[in-house]
Amino acid sequence: MTTSTTSNIPPLAPGLPFVGSILALAQDAQDFFYTQYRQLGNAFRVRALGREFKVLAGPEINIAMATQPDAFTAWDIWEPVVRDFGGRRTLTMVDGPEHARMRRLLRQSFSREALVTHIPMVTDVVVESLRRYTVGARIPGVYFMQRMTADVLGLLSNGRVPGDQFDDIVLWWNTMMEVFISRSKPVSKISQPAYRQARARVKEFATTVFTDRQANRPVAAEDNFLDNLADTSQQDPEFLNHDEALFLTLVAYFAGLDTVANVSSFMLYELLKHPDILARVRAEADQAFAQGTPAADSLRAMPTLHATALETLRLYPIAGVLPRITARDFEFAGYVIPKGEHFMVANAAPHFAPQFYADPYRFDITRYSEPRLEHKKRGVFAPFGSGPHTCLGAGLAEVQIMLVIATLLHHAELALDPANYRLKKAYLPSMTPKGFGFSITAWRS
Ligand code: HEM
Repeated sequence: MTTSTTSNIPPLAPGLPFVGSILALAQDAQDFFYTQYRQLGNAFRVRALGREFKVLAGPEINIAMATQPDAFTAWDIWEPVVRDFGGRRTLTMVDGPEHARMRRLLRQSFSREALVTHIPMVTDVVVESLRRYTVGARIPGVYFMQRMTADVLGLLSNGRVPGDQFDDIVLWWNTMMEVFISRSKPVSKISQPAYRQARARVKEFATTVFTDRQANRPVAAEDNFLDNLADTSQQDPEFLNHDEALFLTLVAYFAGLDTVANVSSFMLYELLKHPDILARVRAEADQAFAQGTPAADSLRAMPTLHATALETLRLYPIAGVLPRITARDFEFAGYVIPKGEHFMVANAAPHFAPQFYADPYRFDITRYSEPRLEHKKRGVFAPFGSGPHTCLGAGLAEVQIMLVIATLLHHAELALDPANYRLKKAYLPSMTPKGFGFSITAWRS
């Protein structure tokens, strides 16, 4: 769908005078971008309340992110977030060798292997979380997934559950996202006492995690991100100062919490709506749990569960639009986007284009098997972004989601609550299934 034009102005998405496309954006901004991609092509303009910005979409932009990373930066986008915490820079805003160095500090701790070596911990957290509810009681789906995800990621990365700090972390991070990333809330929000108190408590929590780890640091050398952050901030504070190290201490929460929790919620919702797929996933889960806790290998032998996870990531791209700024003049789809322009990359737009995914709004796990393999074309499947900033936790997240769902289905019979729940997507600020709930109808083990 590459569009080429002699004019240097991409087409304008439909909208009303002055307010522009604000109504469509307010309803479902991401879906609006995906629809415009199908109708207008790889580059288009969107107007909202007198502001105008460009959206770049299609496999071509995902490929460009990977092949021309020097054309993009997110420095100015993330700088106020890290400055508010007391730092100057963080992983998402640096590029080139500096980015590669910072990413290396975290890589091992957020790899697939890091989670696979803690499978019993994950299944324990899931079962304990579920056992807090009785048969028939309504479980608030997203909140349940959030608490559970925070506990798993907290134990994995910081060696502790966030406990009382959970609400502070959520308030701190959501405020940052709404004020500086989606810009849906005014900057005055960060002067409010409730926010300032939450941020202070989050920082105190990070300091405790950081100092406790150094006080009890294992003698045997291991590639642990907290140790890497401590060593680097001590040896090279110009590169990473203490506050920047503290900020990254919380990375699993702010990068993984909403993303994993919301995808897990959407996935459970889809399974409860598709009893045939659920039965197959449950059979795979029972097989994996047959010898007790699933072994790392058994996760690879769960094709239906894996295809369900992929289809959920395609249909519900939590981070399906990413803000960027051109770091140089950038030619794309016949247009030149001048250096310094803010724009949006609709990385998940191809997920909804029928030329790549047949009947794209249909939940269909067969698209991932031979001979279809619809996701295998370059640039068409990008729930984790593309290029050097591709999600560092992608492998970990995929295994975590699969393991959580397998554990839930192995231990209990579940049903939507209410049974006639109709999916409603909302951005709070991440995309989430609003009002989704479920209940246990019977224990299985
Ligand atoms: C389903 C779950 C997840 C989704 C859909 C997701 C999605 C993404 C996306 C789209 C990006 C790219 C952002 C950009 O280019 O601007 C990203 C970056 C990142 N993600 Fe994830 N993520 C998930 C889970 C996680 C988890 C569990 C962790 C860690 C525990 C994590 C850590 C990171 C980090 C550190 C980055 C920044 C990478 C960089 O700038 O080099 N993510 N994620």
